[in-house]
Amino acid sequence: MPTFELSSASPTEVAADALIIPFFQGREPGPGVDAVQRALGADLMSTLAEHGVQGKVGESFAIPTFGKIEPKTVVLVGLGTRKEAGTQAIRKAAMKVARSVTKFHTVASTVHQVGDSPQDSAHAFAEGVALGAYRFDRYKERPIDSASQEKPKLAQILALTNGRRSASQRGLTRGQVYAEAANWARDLVNTPAIDATPSYLADEARTMARRSGLTCKIWTKAELQRGGFGGILGVGAGSVNEPRLIELTYEGGGDRAPIGITGKGVTFDSGGLSIKDAAGMEWMKADMGGAAATLATMRAVAELQPRVDLIAAIPSAENLPGGSAIRPGDVLRHRGGKTSEVLNTDAEGRLILADALAYLAEKKPRVIIDSATLTGAAMVALGNDVYAVIGSDQQLIDALLAAGREEGEQGWELPLWTDYRRHIESSVADVKNMGIRWGGAITAALFLKEFVGDVPWAHLDVAGTAFAEQSGDLWPRGATGSPARTLIRYIEGESGRGRAPRTSAPKAKASAPRKASSRKSSAPASGSKRTSARRG
Ligand code: BES
Ligand code: ZN
Ligand code: ZN
Repeated sequence: MPTFELSSASPTEVAADALIIPFFQGREPGPGVDAVQRALGADLMSTLAEHGVQGKVGESFAIPTFGKIEPKTVVLVGLGTRKEAGTQAIRKAAMKVARSVTKFHTVASTVHQVGDSPQDSAHAFAEGVALGAYRFDRYKERPIDSASQEKPKLAQILALTNGRRSASQRGLTRGQVYAEAANWARDLVNTPAIDATPSYLADEARTMARRSGLTCKIWTKAELQRGGFGGILGVGAGSVNEPRLIELTYEGGGDRAPIGITGKGVTFDSGGLSIKDAAGMEWMKADMGGAAATLATMRAVAELQPRVDLIAAIPSAENLPGGSAIRPGDVLRHRGGKTSEVLNTDAEGRLILADALAYLAEKKPRVIIDSATLTGAAMVALGNDVYAVIGSDQQLIDALLAAGREEGEQGWELPLWTDYRRHIESSVADVKNMGIRWGGAITAALFLKEFVGDVPWAHLDVAGTAFAEQSGDLWPRGATGSPARTLIRYIEGESGRGRAPRTSAPKAKASAPRKASSRKSSAPASGSKRTSARRG
C-alpha cells in the first residue's frame, strides 16, 4: 500500500517518476495539463486525437517527457465528459490507471482537483489508487507485475494541492482507510482455504483488534457447544478445522443502541455431503467474503472513530464432507432454541448465520446487517457488479443502497416476499434450509429473518460481487472486498445521528444479560417491522 501525501509542488517541478493528469471527453484539458503542455512545448490534446484516445473514464495514454519536466512520464487519464466527472469517475479512473503505474516509485497527480467537493474527490482518488494498486502476490516466489514484467514498487502518491488543503487531506486519509480495509478483506478472501481456516480468521481478527483497540472474544468449539450454537457446530462438523465465532466490539460513545453486523465466514464450501461439482467448488475459498468485509469494517471504524457503537459476531466454519459431517435430514438447534431441518448441506451459510443473528438480536441492537456469499440465485439475478439487498426495514435498506452508491459499490433491493415463507416450512423442525429452485435469494433471506426477532435487519447477498472470476476493467481476478466500503460508509453516516426517540429498549437494555429466548416469545413483538420507528 503506497503512502498518500499532499504536495504544493507544481506539476512540472514535482519530484516524482510519473505525473497523472486528467482530461475530459472531447479532449478538454483538466488541471495540470496546460502547465505541462507549455513546459513540453507540445499540444497534448492533439497527440491524444492522433492516437484515437477519447477520454472515456480510465482510458489513459503515457508520454515520455525527455527531461523537460521533473516527472519522467506523464500519464493522461480520461474522466469522461466534464459534466460526468465527479467522484465515481475519479475513483474508476484512479483504479484503472493505478494498475499501470505500479512500476514507478513515486507518482504525483492532479486528478483529485476535479469535482465539486475537495474532500470527496480526494477520498475517491486515494481509494481508487489504493484499490487499483492492490495485488495478491504473497504466494509467488518472485512477485512480478504482469503488465510491465517488473517488480511493483509504487510507494508514494503525491496529491498536488490547489489550495483546499484540510479538506483534501481529510479525503485522502479517509479514502486510504476505506481502501486499506477493503484490501485487507481481499487478502483474507484470496488466501487459500488450506491456510485460511476458521482459527486463522480468528487470529487475524484478534491481531487486528489488538492493534485497533477493539474488544475481541473468540468463541472456541467447546464454548460454542456450551452456548448452543448448533448451526455453526453442525456446518463445521465435517472438517478437522474447528469452527469459531469472532466477536468484536467498538465503543464510539454513541447515544443509541449499537449497530450489529455479521458476515458469512465459510472458509471453504465443498457443499458438504450435498457436494458441489468441481466447477462449483473452484471459488469456494471466497465463501468467507462476508466475514472478511465485516472484519474490514470493524478495522476501518476503529480508525475513523465515528460516534456510534458497534458489535460484530462473525461465524466461521469449513463445510467439508468428513465422516462426522451433518447429513441431509439432520435437525440442528440454533442459538436461542429454534431448529432447522438440513435438507441440503450446501445451503450452509444460513445455518451459521442463524446462530450469529440470534446472538446479535439478544444484544438488542438498533439494526442488524449481515453480508454473505449466500446464494447462486443472487448472482443469477444481478450478475457480478451488483449485490442483493433484502431486509425488513426500508429506511435501513435505503441507507445501505445510498452508502453503496456513494462508494461506487452498488446494491439493488430484492423483495422480502413473505409469502415464500411457505417454501421453507418444515414438517419436522421450525424451518428448513432450502426452498424451491426459484427465488433462492429470497427464501435464503426469509430463513435468516427467522432469527433476527424484531430487530430491523438487512441482508447483503454478495455471492456475485465478492470476487471476480476473470480479470476485468476495474478488478483483477480474485477478491474485491465487497461490501466492506458500503458498510463503512453506512456506519460513518450513522455517526452521532438521531437522539433515540425509541419506543422500547433504551440504551441500558443493550447490555442486559443475554438469555436464550423462547422461540415463541418474539411473536407478539414482531409484526409491522417495515414501519417500526427505530431510527431518528
Ligand atoms: N456459497 C454458496 C453460494 C455461492 C455460489 C457463492 C456461487 C458464490 C458463488 C452457497 O453456500 C450455496 O451453495 N448455496 C446454494 C443453496 C442451495 C443449495 C439452496 C445455491 O445457491 O445453489
Ligand atoms: Zn454451500
Ligand atoms: Zn456457501
